[in-house]
Amino acid sequence: MPESPRVRGVAPATVVPMILVTGATGTIGSELVRHLAARGEKVRALTRDPRKARMPADVEVVRGDYLEPASLDAAMSEVTAAFLVGLPGPSAQHDGPLVAAARAAGVGRLVKLSAIGTGDPEVGPTGEWHVEGERAVRESGAQWVVLRPSSFASNTLSWAQALRAGEPVPNMSGAGAQGVVDPRDVAEAAAVALLDERRADRTYTLTGPETISVPGQAQVLAGLLGRPVPTRDLTSDEVRAHVLQWWQDEAVADGVAVSSAFVRRGGNAVVTEDVPRLLGRPARTYREWARDHRGAFEAE
Ligand SMILES: NC(=O)c1ccc[n+]([C@@H]2O[C@H](COP(=O)([O-])OP(=O)(O)OC[C@H]3O[C@@H](n4cnc5c(N)ncnc54)[C@H](OP(=O)(O)O)[C@@H]3O)[C@@H](O)[C@H]2O)c1
Repeated sequence: MPESPRVRGVAPATVVPMILVTGATGTIGSELVRHLAARGEKVRALTRDPRKARMPADVEVVRGDYLEPASLDAAMSEVTAAFLVGLPGPSAQHDGPLVAAARAAGVGRLVKLSAIGTGDPEVGPTGEWHVEGERAVRESGAQWVVLRPSSFASNTLSWAQALRAGEPVPNMSGAGAQGVVDPRDVAEAAAVALLDERRADRTYTLTGPETISVPGQAQVLAGLLGRPVPTRDLTSDEVRAHVLQWWQDEAVADGVAVSSAFVRRGGNAVVTEDVPRLLGRPARTYREWARDHRGAFEAE
């Protein structure tokens, strides 16, 4: 059983653990809040709009915005450990204020959600997105853990509409396979990092138990749904146009085009043992994730 977090220099008995989860309405944050609350931990969830947030009972919901540092100061008050979610894109602008607020409040442990390949020049500009944020937590003076997940299994939820319309799903990375990871495993790993001080001051690369390509994921879904799931390879220009549908940012589109080419040539075909090391069980496969989320792909 993981231990409760301790603040350096403070006797554990004097600290009632309070965990702040940022990005609490997002992919990993929402799973983490559910997981911690189910374990009976004291959780504070940060969102820009508490009225819209649906949280488990007993979770304290606070308003906070990375772009309004004062709101972060209040959110960090009396927190012993914090989970920091940057946003896709150059994230230093988010991590900087978060770490500054945590330092000012004396938060004892910081767990940063980063990404696989961070700092690897081969990945291109997206490999830079978390470099400054990782540096900020490592130099914060608090205990720190950096989590670098591979591609989330849940990214394929973006295929649901095309699938229902009988259209091919877009493939940005050809036959390039990745150690696709289940967001639930990332969240559970984050919980261990927040609660178990023996895990402090380390970087973990979180992957699934095997590598799988986009056509491989489509094949898994086809098997579960009992119908073909065709894919369509995107050219580099099409990758850029595809990304620009979500982010109206040319630099982000250029960066994703470079990282997609990296994946296509096998650069992210990485599997690690860090999920089993942290959780004491095998990582979930893409098939397990897809089976548990099958309803999202079925006709409404
Ligand atoms: N997707 C992948 O395959 C993958 C793989 C590896 C790493 N990552 C990393 O995972 C992280 C999360 O990415 P995601 O796409 O999955 O995002 P997400 O978790 O779905 O959503 C982002 C969260 O950030 C919050 N947020 C947005 N702007 C905010 C602001 N100004 N102030 C405070 N909170 C704000 C949102 O909360 P509210 O709207 O409630 O405020 C939301 O909960 C990124 O850093 C990404 O690099 C992703």
